[in-house]
Parts: sequence; C-alpha cells; structure tokens
Amino acid sequence: MTSPPDSLDTFLGLAGGYAAAKVLTTAAKLGLLAPSCGMIAPEAFARACGTSPKGVRLLLNALVGLGIYEKESETYRMTADFRRLFAHHPGLADDLIHHDHLYNVWGRLEEGIRTGRSVPPPEEETRRYPASLATFLKAMRAHAGTLAGDLVSAVPWEGIKRLLDIGGGGGGFALVLARRFPQIKITLADLPDAVTLTKGMLAAEPEMDRITFHPCNAYTDPLPPGPFDRIIISHLLHIYPNDDNRVLVAKAAGRLARGGDLLLLDYFLDDKETTPRQAVLFRLLMMIGTPEGDCYRLSQARDWLREAGLTPGTPRSLSRGNTLLAARKL
Ligand SMILES: C[S@@+](CC[C@H](N)C(=O)[O-])C[C@H]1O[C@@H](n2cnc3c(N)ncnc32)[C@H](O)[C@@H]1O
Repeated sequence: MTSPPDSLDTFLGLAGGYAAAKVLTTAAKLGLLAPSCGMIAPEAFARACGTSPKGVRLLLNALVGLGIYEKESETYRMTADFRRLFAHHPGLADDLIHHDHLYNVWGRLEEGIRTGRSVPPPEEETRRYPASLATFLKAMRAHAGTLAGDLVSAVPWEGIKRLLDIGGGGGGFALVLARRFPQIKITLADLPDAVTLTKGMLAAEPEMDRITFHPCNAYTDPLPPGPFDRIIISHLLHIYPNDDNRVLVAKAAGRLARGGDLLLLDYFLDDKETTPRQAVLFRLLMMIGTPEGDCYRLSQARDWLREAGLTPGTPRSLSRGNTLLAARKL
C-alpha cells in the first residue's frame, strides 16, 4: 500500500509540480539545459536569443532554486552534477522539449475526463507537423537512449545477429545496440515520414552500415521478411487498441526465428490497473492525446503473446515505470 504524503509540504509540492516542470521545459527550449552551456550572463544571453533580460534572469534564478544552476554575482553556471548528467544524456533537452508539448495535452485533461475520449488539439498545434514530428523523434531517440542501458542488462545478447525494432523511430535503441554489439544487424521499421526523418538524424553515425530501414504501417503492411533472432516493440502498443495489438504481436511472432524472442517494452499495468504510477499517469495522456490508445495490463500482453504461440517469461521492471516482457518462440 502506498503511504499517505508524510506532510502537507510534500502533498502541496506534488500538486504544484507543474511549476517546476514548466521551468525545466522552458529552459530546455531556450537552450539553457545543453551540456555545452558555460557561464551565462542574462543580458547577453537574452540579447542573443531575443528574450527579455528580466525573464531570463528570473528563469535562471528559478533554475538555481531547483539546484540545476549556481549563481555567482550576476553570472550563472550549471552545477557540475548537472553538467555531467547532460553530458551523459545529451538528448535530455530534446526529451524536455517534447514534455513542453505534452504539457499542452495535459491541459486538456479535465475535458478528457468528462468525455472519456481523446481531446483534439487546437488547429495551430496540428499545423506544426512535421516540425513537431522531428521534435517528437528526437525526444524518442533520447527516451530510448535513457532506457537502452536497462534493456542491455535485462536480457542476454549472445547469438543475436538479426534484430527488428518495430516503431523504432528516432533510432535510440538501434544506435546504442549497434554500437554495443558489432555482430548485430538491425532493421528499423516505422511509418514512412518517421523513417525519412530518422535516417536523416542518424546519417552521420558510423553504425549506419548495420542499420536498415523499412518504411511501413506495421499494423496494416507486411513486416520485413526476417527471420529475426530478436524483435523489439517498445512504446508502440499504447498508441493502438487491444485487438490491433494482438494482430501485430502475431505478425511479429511470424517473423521470429525458432529460439528467437519478442521483447515488449511499455508502460504495462498490474491487474488492478493502479501501478506502476508512471503507467497509470501515462494512460490518462493516451486517453486525451490519441484516438484509440491505452495502457494495457501485463495479463493482456501475456494473452497476445500466448495466442501468437510464444512463451512469455517473467516480466522485468525497468526504470521509470517501464516493464519488459520477453517471450520466446520455442
Ligand atoms: C512512442 S514512439 C516510441 C519510439 C521507440 N520505440 C521508443 O521506445 O522510444 C512510437 C513510434 O512508433 C511509430 N509508429 C506509430 N504508429 C506506427 C505504425 N502504425 N507502424 C509503424 N510505426 C509506428 C512512431 O512513428 C514512433 O516512432
């Protein structure tokens, strides 16, 4: 059982969390969370990016309050800990910029709760496609990059030579896995627009000679022929309805070599649908932000896998509410 908040301060801090979140996403948009940020003088910074000096100063003071920057006289510098964090995860700012978009989606929560359906974005938001698709894919690359370490240690990689990443847009997993395991050849399947942008994003990477792309709608078009030793479906299933996912999992199973496995990585829920916390929250986002998306119970995912003739193993909890469910083709 989760204990009640230990104090009024904790509870009110939780309720007001959007303020700190918005400070972080705004700082990311202005380039204040880049690993290369050196000493910052608010006036010069404001002049360079066409913002108000007062606004920048107050934002930097807030970043000091959050422990991300230090202030000395009238200049600011990111703390050594955060410089290390951003250097280690250079795409984090992209992830935060995507969160700034999600903040707008969360703003439609009340309407979503009243109707129980997705709430379409205002027209000017949809007009920003494909700029917003590029931002999204950069965020996905960062997102997968931060989870790739978990994925690498959660399952064995010996004997994996041909890997298919379905919905692998952004290429976060593909890049980390290709770098780490030189024996692996990766096929990344995604929607055509996402493939075009991802190819461009990865163009300069030396690992590109072991990554091929398969533009498709994975739900309705044929998957690449395979057979593959391992197939990954990460953070795709929550965009689509249960029955479509059953079909996709069966299609993927058909492309696995005997002895190969299918890895489902997502915000899966427990049977009561109340944990993990990130999954419960993310499910609301899917209700508001997608026409038919949802987060699924692990038991539903196991059903898809068994119906596809695969043998699911024990689920593994990964960072930040993610769960990995692997299933083998015996
Ligand atoms: C939320 S992102 C996840 C990206 C990555 N797998 C990860 O875990 O970070 C979902 C990805 O699935 C792709 N996608 C969505 N619908 C798809 C479909 N019908 N067929 C293929 N890819 C699809 C999107 O373009 C996007 O790249």
